[in-house]
Amino acid sequence: MLRSRIIGTGSYLPDRILTNVDLEKQMDTTDEWIRARTGIRERRIAAEGETTSDMATHAARCVVEKAGIRPSSIDLIILATATPDMAFPSSACIVQHRLGISGVAAFDISAACSGFIYGLGIADQFIRTGTVRTALVIGAERFSKILDWQDRTTCVLFGDGAGAVLLRGEEVESGILSTHLHADGTYADMLMVARKGSRNPITDELIQTEAEYLIMRGSELFKVAVKTLEEAVVEAVEANGLACEDVDLLVPHQANIRIITATAKRLGLPMEKVVVNLDRYGNTSAASIPIALDEALAEGRIRQGDHVLFEAFGGGLTWASAMVRW
Ligand code: UT7
Repeated sequence: MLRSRIIGTGSYLPDRILTNVDLEKQMDTTDEWIRARTGIRERRIAAEGETTSDMATHAARCVVEKAGIRPSSIDLIILATATPDMAFPSSACIVQHRLGISGVAAFDISAACSGFIYGLGIADQFIRTGTVRTALVIGAERFSKILDWQDRTTCVLFGDGAGAVLLRGEEVESGILSTHLHADGTYADMLMVARKGSRNPITDELIQTEAEYLIMRGSELFKVAVKTLEEAVVEAVEANGLACEDVDLLVPHQANIRIITATAKRLGLPMEKVVVNLDRYGNTSAASIPIALDEALAEGRIRQGDHVLFEAFGGGLTWASAMVRW
């Protein structure tokens, strides 16, 4: 069967580290509160002038080098981001230019924190139909630019970074077994950045308002996230005729350690089988899963034949899963 196999992973994190203790000095928060409520200890912040496409390009070059392929063999670039460099052209087009592969399809997708799995699902469809052989799927975010650094309820949560995978169509039993993509716009206002869209065209007044920044109804979102993700992981397991104990590794979106723990518990998975790095990077939105996957592989946590489950939840609301046999 023609399947999409992950033939490489790469990631990029900016050098600058912003710790909870640094934040204590800037606002009314504590390291203890942030660690207890979220699991985050520190996050990376992009350098002044460093853009989403810069970080995405670093992650793309990293995966191309590690997979040992020529960039010219890439047929499709999908970049998942809620923080593109600009409204258009897409950041994917900028990455394509920097990789020197003019002509191949390149586009951004907007599904917030679920964006990477959405991108994986889209690329997988192109590959299974034989339209594309090799696809580059990137998740890259520069959330530090859309945060209100006076708002302790949001700014302590997020970080910047990028991750990427290369998919290749091969006649194999391994690869992406399933993707499930979901959305419910009923809750669109639970997590959003309202700026610079057709609803809020740019004016001097707008720049002074909260429409410029990310706003979130955190505790409401938390409850929906836990319930939705518990259902999403069970859906992924059952759709593949597997049992929960068949999952060898869970690579969850890194929003909150309490959400991750609840999802692992629903699957009956011990935390040794769950990849957690939000203590070091915070919530990097669409970048969180490919960064975590890249680290898990580097640490030798994935073996051939393992079932690896990805899940994510974010603004939209959107949620998604992907089951991969390595
Ligand atoms: O990735 C996309 C999806 N994102 C999510 O799914 C995020 C889901 N939500 C969450 O992770 C959690 O709801 C948060 C981490 C955002 C908040 O944790 P919480 O346990 O739900 O706290 P809360 O919002 O109910 O706030 C509890 C208290 C409040 O004070 P009062 O009203 O009880 O006096 C907040 O003002 O904690 C206060 N608080 C803080 N205190 C110190 C909120 N932020 C901070 C802070 N430092 N940074």
